[in-house]
Formats: sequence, C-alpha cells, structure tokens
Amino acid sequence: MKEETLLESLHKRGVSRRTFLKFCTVTASSLALPKHLSEAFADSLAAAPRPAVIWISTQECTGCSESLLRSFEPTVETLILDHFSLNYHNTLQAAAGTAAEASKGQTIRGDFGRYIAVVDGSVPIGEGGSWSMIGGRSALDVVYEAVERAALVISVGNCASFGGLPKADPNPGDSFGVDELMAQQLVPRRPLINIPGCPPVPEVLTGSIAYVLAFRALPELDQYRRPKVYFGKTVHDCCNRLTHYVEGNFALSFDDEGARNGWCLWQLGCKGPTTYNACSTVRWNQGTSYPMHSGHGCLGCSEPGFWDKAGFYEMTFEAPAPGDGSTCTAPPQTPLS
Ligand code: SF4
Ligand code: F3S
Repeated sequence: MKEETLLESLHKRGVSRRTFLKFCTVTASSLALPKHLSEAFADSLAAAPRPAVIWISTQECTGCSESLLRSFEPTVETLILDHFSLNYHNTLQAAAGTAAEASKGQTIRGDFGRYIAVVDGSVPIGEGGSWSMIGGRSALDVVYEAVERAALVISVGNCASFGGLPKADPNPGDSFGVDELMAQQLVPRRPLINIPGCPPVPEVLTGSIAYVLAFRALPELDQYRRPKVYFGKTVHDCCNRLTHYVEGNFALSFDDEGARNGWCLWQLGCKGPTTYNACSTVRWNQGTSYPMHSGHGCLGCSEPGFWDKAGFYEMTFEAPAPGDGSTCTAPPQTPLS
C-alpha cells in the first residue's frame, strides 16, 4: 500500500496547499535556505513519507512535551507532529503496560534503522539506573534499545541534551544527557540533534525535523549538536531591548522607571548575551513574545549547565561588546489560517 505523504496527511486535516507553502516559505527562511533550495524544500517535504517516532520520556517534568504537543489552536507545526507515526510516547499515550511496550517493540523491529528516537529527559545511571524506571526497566536500558536501531536521535529539552536540572550539583542520581551517554559509550553513538531549552521552542523542533525529512541529512550543527540555523545567534543579538543595551540604559530593579521604559535587563541578570537560541527571532506562542519582550531576563536555558551557572538575577559575566542587531532576521510566524 502506498504510504501517505506529509502533504496528503495535512490535506486530510484541512490544511490547504497554500497554507502548507506558506509554512514552507517561513521555515525555509528560518533555516536560512537559499532560494533554489527553498523550492526543493517545499517539494521534498510535501512528498516526505510518514516517519515512525518513538518518544521516550525519562527523568523530566513533562514541560517539553507540554510545550511541543499542546497548542491553543493547531498550527502547521503541531499538525506535522501529529502526522508522525508516534508509535510510543510513555507520557502521552493512552495505551499502557504490555500493549504499549509491544507497540514500541514492533517499531524497533519493523522499522529497523528508519525510525526517529526522541528522548525527553535526562538519564540517571547511579544505583543501577533505578532513579528512573519505565515498564520495570531502567531508563538507561530503554534509551539504549531505542537509540541503537534509530536512524536519528533527537534530544528534546535541556535535560536530554545536557542533563538539565537532574544533573545540577550534586547530581544525586548520576544523571546525564544523551550526548554524554554516547560519549561514555553507555548508549550507541547514532546521528544526534540536540534541541535544548527549558522547554525548547516548538518551531525549532519542527523546523529541524522538516529539514531532515526534506533533505535526508542533518542540518549543520554547532559544537553542542544544536542546529546552527536556530542556535547560531544569541537571544541578545535580536532582543527588542538591544538599543538600550547599546546606549547604556539599564533597569536596576523590575519595578523602576527603566524597567517601565523597556530598558535592558542585563544588570538584573539577563543571560541573553551568552545564550544561543531562537527565542527573539522565532519567538514563543506562535510568534507572540519571548522572555525579554515580556519583561524578564533570559535564564540561559538552552546552554549546558545553566542550573549550575545560576545567578539568574545577578550579573554573572562582563558585558560583551554591543552588537547593533544588523544580523537579525525577521521573526517568522506560522499561524494556521
Ligand atoms: Fe536583551 Fe538581555 Fe541583551 Fe539586554 S542583555 S539587550 S535584555 S538580551
Ligand atoms: Fe530560555 Fe533565554 Fe529563551 S531563558 S526561553 S533561552 S530567552
């Protein structure tokens, strides 16, 4: 039987070709694709088959799943996530127990080397991995099995990418992110993309997956295996308060005149200048806002060890040389219309 393509699946859900092309244009722009690749991107994505996905939630707070899969109104991004054959999600799925584990086993055996394994949460290895158990097995064992035969592994959130809060000092469960487990040869090394954040920006996950589906290749990654197109600039580079930073206008408390005037939050601990993420370009809640836009500094949630760096409300580094925001791209937005 012919496999349903992504565009066919979206059609069934009421998404017009025009809306799909709009999504492709915005995503191609957020991926900084040149014009000739933008056209190829739309064609390839439209024809992409339905990928099987195994989503393993380990030691986490469910915030990443909430952020990525729940939406007030469906967007093309959320429908693309719906399009996946999400064969296993131990937090969200209705099935439980033997039936759920059997479905996962079928995907691993039937789609050997073709499915995407998403890990959401850190993995404890202390005390035999007993700090996080799924179906009577340690999270380490479950992640090992899912990763070993996957075509691609995606670590969603700071915990899966870098260990997150569970790894913060004193790291009582001996917890790690997937990349570190691979480096320690505790799980097999497979192609890996990290999408950190606490939680991550949903469109960054969807855009990265869309790139992989369309081009059957990984996007260019930085030293932490984050897609450079989304993590190549700091949130400071495109912050709406950048002009005040350049002019030296700093709020000194959250209710002073400067804060009311929208001045820069660096002296209130904003970590924007050292944090690489797409919050100030892609933005949150369908392009509505992001922390500094809403009056709060960046905590650095897409960086390794951000909980241990802490000092969320203290200046913890020297001010970097001010940029002028000229490398900023317009914030793409993709509401379903
Ligand atoms: Fe924006 Fe923070 Fe940079 Fe100030 S320091 S411009 S608030 S990101
Ligand atoms: Fe996280 Fe900073 Fe964005 S705290 S949500 S990386 S603005």
